[in-house]
Amino acid sequence: MQNNYNKLMNNLESLNLNMFKANLSTYLEYMENGSKTVVDILYELSEMEMTLRTERAMNACVKVANFPFIKTFEDFDFSFQPSINKEQIINYKYLKFIDDKENIVFIGSPGVGKTHLATAIGVEAAKLRTSTYFISCGDLILQLKRAHIENRLEQRLKFFAKYKLLIIDEVGFLPLDIESSNLLFQLIAKRYEKNSTIVTTNKPLSRWGEIFGDPVIANAILDRLLHHSHVINIVGRSYRTKDIIDDDKQS
Ligand SMILES: Nc1ncnc2c1ncn2[C@@H]1O[C@H](COP(=O)(O)OP(=O)(O)O)[C@@H](O)[C@H]1O
Ligand SMILES: [Mg+2]
Repeated sequence: MQNNYNKLMNNLESLNLNMFKANLSTYLEYMENGSKTVVDILYELSEMEMTLRTERAMNACVKVANFPFIKTFEDFDFSFQPSINKEQIINYKYLKFIDDKENIVFIGSPGVGKTHLATAIGVEAAKLRTSTYFISCGDLILQLKRAHIENRLEQRLKFFAKYKLLIIDEVGFLPLDIESSNLLFQLIAKRYEKNSTIVTTNKPLSRWGEIFGDPVIANAILDRLLHHSHVINIVGRSYRTKDIIDDDKQS
């Protein structure tokens, strides 16, 4: 009996059933004192194993999504930013906008929570194993430019086009030259009506002409980005400097 118990432990280890192995002795006691049947025990141990695997898969998806930080809706103080419709934002976690291939554009000055909210939505998507990738606009352009020089632009565009959800952070933070704007346009055009994109920007859409150095490209990008989109204007104070400003007021 003891011999078979040891062999069973070895098998569980080889099969990578770690939860099963860790909890088996406790569950055998439940069987001995009659509080659980064999089926209950097998079911509950298998359930624990499955929960662990789902969690691991979720964590792996969150990891590959390249978020700058892990932020959630729960971490967001909606009362600090009353211009935001909380219900609308929370609803994005059901990912209907991804099924409908719609985009989200967060507009607002620095520190109002654009990256936080874009990440919170992305984390929900990644947890549900929706292919998700986060990149700053600057990094994206750098990668596309490098690929262009190395004659593998098409491949790189396909790489970024394939994600069900792509988050492009800080569009317009720095103005883009015509070549960069064209590269971004090619990516947005490839994703248009196929996959969802979340963009964060500190520039109102009326000033996007300044970002891209060419009103025609700016319009072409905006046209595709906005066609099926949710535009969220966050008008409020910076969360980054809230304490400094509050302290200032008090002193
Ligand atoms: N309303 C909020 N509640 C809690 N944390 C917030 C809120 N707004 C912003 N933050 C935090 O403040 C920092 C700056 O926010 P971020 O989303 O990076 O701003 P933005 O991208 O608009 O410049 C982040 O650490 C973010 O988590
Ligand atoms: Mg940001």
